[in-house]
Amino acid sequence: MNSFGEVTGEMLAKLRGVVGEENVVAEEDRMIDYSHDEMAKDTAISHRPDVVVKPGSTEEVSDIMKVANEGRIPVTPRGAGTGLSGGAVPVLGGIVLSLERMNRILEIDEENLMMVVQAGVSFMDVYEALQKTDLFFPPHPGDESAHIGGAAACNAGGARCVKYGVMRNYVTGAKVVLPNGDVVELGGKLLKNNTGYNLLQLLVGSEGTLAVFTEVTLRLLPKPRETMVLLIPYRSTGEAIATVPRVLRSGIIPLGMEFLDRSSVEPTERLLGKKWPAKEGEAFLSVILTGDKKEELYSECEKIAAIAQEGGALDVLVAGTKREQDLIMDIRSNVYEGLKPETLEILDIAVPPSRIPDFVDKVKETSERYGVKLPSYGHAADGNVHVNIMKSGLTEEEWREKYPRVREELFQAGEALGGVITAEHGVGANKIGDLSHTLGEREIGLMRGIKKTFDPNGILNPGKVTPP
Ligand code: LAC
Ligand code: ZN
Repeated sequence: MNSFGEVTGEMLAKLRGVVGEENVVAEEDRMIDYSHDEMAKDTAISHRPDVVVKPGSTEEVSDIMKVANEGRIPVTPRGAGTGLSGGAVPVLGGIVLSLERMNRILEIDEENLMMVVQAGVSFMDVYEALQKTDLFFPPHPGDESAHIGGAAACNAGGARCVKYGVMRNYVTGAKVVLPNGDVVELGGKLLKNNTGYNLLQLLVGSEGTLAVFTEVTLRLLPKPRETMVLLIPYRSTGEAIATVPRVLRSGIIPLGMEFLDRSSVEPTERLLGKKWPAKEGEAFLSVILTGDKKEELYSECEKIAAIAQEGGALDVLVAGTKREQDLIMDIRSNVYEGLKPETLEILDIAVPPSRIPDFVDKVKETSERYGVKLPSYGHAADGNVHVNIMKSGLTEEEWREKYPRVREELFQAGEALGGVITAEHGVGANKIGDLSHTLGEREIGLMRGIKKTFDPNGILNPGKVTPP
């Protein structure tokens, strides 16, 4: 176990010297926003930082890390704080290193189909900047206020991974700061690179435990000209999900293919004051198709409709206009927000896609046995299921007793089906005790060795990902 130093007055003075008086926050009430992420309230991991420091450049990040490393102060890098595993929460106090001021788009390189951004640029900023180009950045983590640096560090996923993959498939280069303050540039505007170990991709997904991303080079694609969204209602989730492999086998690769049940959609309808366009059905598939020609998409729609109807679909709704599409996407993007007030935890277990029906059956059976509501939705084609463990209808005493048992059973069920405990939200602080469902002692041992190599004093994001 590492022993940490205290944030002293002398240290605060040094930090002020690095970033300026106005970018060091040490007042209690101004630090509240930096003490939690978007985890559900009743079980959220939260801890107050001793100080929040807001660097404006890579050099300043480097100087902060030098001060912290010398004083053995924990440093928790933080983007927009939209995470769901406590990864950006300073569980051991110390410095929260907020990259919010590093919000400049440095370059859009249309010739190489790349862009270079500072870590604190949001997805929204990226989409907006690309609007005036013919270029497209596929990743979409749901919350568009999320920062690119945080999403790279956490290898964010989202609802647009089926066709184009996750964040790591779009990070080709980065400038990072190591725990001792050294600045390292990895990769570049490169699509192929086999020079040595792939340190860049080791850092992508390391959840800010090995280095701090300060600049990221992103790969872009040509913008697809046409988009179409299908909404397909079914009687049951099982039927909805059974359609997914049949669509994929037919040769169609949608941008995204999501499943939802009615109990996942209803709270969001109320939250947004919007009506889900499918009146009938208990479970739904939403399918996003992209391409360059309308006719192509229509023919894919027809193929999918035929497969869906064979599988018991009650209807196939086609959202052709942007307005209709935005309604479906808006409700889908806000499902977690809708469920959140009654959620204890949103899980993000992934199983091999063909095993989703088995997993969903197990969820249903567990829900009935415990009398705990478990509305489920998620990224069907990725095998990634968001089961929400709800407290609705339970007393606090009841949910405190049932919640950990239900959670454990679901992790075991995922494991038995060849799955993993987290497919997108990461280990952070909240799943560090659950790793053995997915990783063996040898793998955890290798992770410890890697952590030690990057961060011998264990100051960078301690209490996350790798058990001590
Ligand atoms: C979602 C997020 C919460 O897919 O992962 O809704
Ligand atoms: Zn998700």
